[in-house]
Amino acid sequence: MMDFARPPIGVFDSGVGGLTVLQEIRKRLPGEDYLYLGDTARLPYGSKSPATVQRYALNAARHLVDRGVKLLVVACNTASSYALDEVAAACPVPVIGVVEPGVRAALAASVRRIGVIGTEGTVRSEAYQRALRRADPKVTVEAAACPLFVPLAEEGWGDHPVTDLVAEHYLRPLLDRGIEALILGCTHYPLLRPSLERVVGREVRLIDSATSVAASVVADYGGMMDTWYGEEGDVHLQFSDASDRFLGITRRILGRDPEHLEVVDI
Ligand code: DGL
Repeated sequence: MMDFARPPIGVFDSGVGGLTVLQEIRKRLPGEDYLYLGDTARLPYGSKSPATVQRYALNAARHLVDRGVKLLVVACNTASSYALDEVAAACPVPVIGVVEPGVRAALAASVRRIGVIGTEGTVRSEAYQRALRRADPKVTVEAAACPLFVPLAEEGWGDHPVTDLVAEHYLRPLLDRGIEALILGCTHYPLLRPSLERVVGREVRLIDSATSVAASVVADYGGMMDTWYGEEGDVHLQFSDASDRFLGITRRILGRDPEHLEVVDI
């Protein structure tokens, strides 16, 4: 059972992709303790209905709140798209999702034509499309669901000819419509960066939701964080299922074996 010296930051994703978000937050706030929950038993969220994603996300959020997190980061784009309001209403701590930070980062790049890619759920929810148009009615948004990207990322094919081919198929219509920036609206997509960069070329800026949410955590909540005295905080990982497959991907993202890992029945 985990033991923290002070309340941790909670990070939640449907699986292991959210570790890309955790890594980015940790780079900026290394002295904090972290409790990461990957709902690997219920993954994927991206192909589920809104009601199911909301139920799963609420369940995961309650689990983390019960373990004393002081801030909850919903790293999963699908859960942020379908369930952020419900989670925020149910939690007594600040809740931050990935959609608004991604939108802010895209608009900060002063572009007019913005592409968004994500799971079927994220794209169908129109959460990014609405948030972009609300923030700047003059932007044009082109969105595409890329369901094969998650398995490709999990396969470790982030720099692979097959991924180039699939990316070309999904992204060509957006590129033909002249997008200037592309929001990677899924936790897994930063793992595909080498292939994605090759396909979109230098002219299109990739907006990574992992870095933009980490920047927002610091900007919006940095004041409630502990002063850093030079010692790294603890990172505890909890998964609702821990198959060898997920553990392998976890190692790949973290670049090492996780120190504290627990399987939880949520
Ligand atoms: N974590 C999900 C997301 O960011 C991708 C994986 C899934 O479909 O559950 O949308």
